[in-house]
Amino acid sequence: MFSRNIKVAENAGALTSLAANLFVDIGRESITMSGSFTVALAGGSTPRQLYSLLASERYKRELDWSLVTFFFGDERHVPPDSEESNYRMANETLLTPLGIALENVHRWRAELPDGSDAADRYQAKLEVLLASRDRSIDLVLLGLGEDAHTASLFPYTAALSETERHAVANWVEKLDAYRLTLTPRAINAARNVIFLVSGEAKATAVKHVLEGEFRPDQFPAQLVIPQNGTLYWLLDEGAASLLDRSKF
Ligand code: 6PG
Repeated sequence: MFSRNIKVAENAGALTSLAANLFVDIGRESITMSGSFTVALAGGSTPRQLYSLLASERYKRELDWSLVTFFFGDERHVPPDSEESNYRMANETLLTPLGIALENVHRWRAELPDGSDAADRYQAKLEVLLASRDRSIDLVLLGLGEDAHTASLFPYTAALSETERHAVANWVEKLDAYRLTLTPRAINAARNVIFLVSGEAKATAVKHVLEGEFRPDQFPAQLVIPQNGTLYWLLDEGAASLLDRSKF
């Protein structure tokens, strides 16, 4: 059984601080338990502020970052120096400012022309690393799209029904592109999952996912049900504005 925690911050700034504190708490607990902390970073724009805050004077000494290994929950099928690259965004805001060693950063080889090849390589990398830890990723950080997608699990796409693999190349018709993504199986094996969602534009998606009928093809974030982990929804007032507050 998993436990679900919903926390609402008054604004985007408070949400970022809430997320930074939880990130550090989970990191410390993981390092205490196993001597290391593995995290799969989210892409998009929302986490940018969180990454900058974690790399700031206020937080950069809160964790022994040399013990942290970074993965990516998903990646666009673009080179690492592309403006669309999730790796590039995290590298600029978090990894380079913290001086994270290259061997502790596992990006998708999204520059490879064949997305399936990139996914196969990530699958193999995940299997090796996690087998050696007899445990899953300690923290998967996720965003939420206005269409209730998360990572690159978009509505009505093949990756939603993938039950064996941890990493796939997912064709997204509406983007006319492949996206590289962890599968629901990989995400749900994590010890902790955090959804970080900000802004009124996401309120309808948040309500569908948290309070709506279970229709995961239409609302893929509903597939995130960690088997034995803890699920956190960190929202600001805008993103939470349509929720029935009496329910949490
Ligand atoms: C990506 C993300 C994606 C993102 C949502 C929300 O590659 O874009 O993995 O799932 O989290 O689309 O994006 P914003 O934070 O930009 O609203």
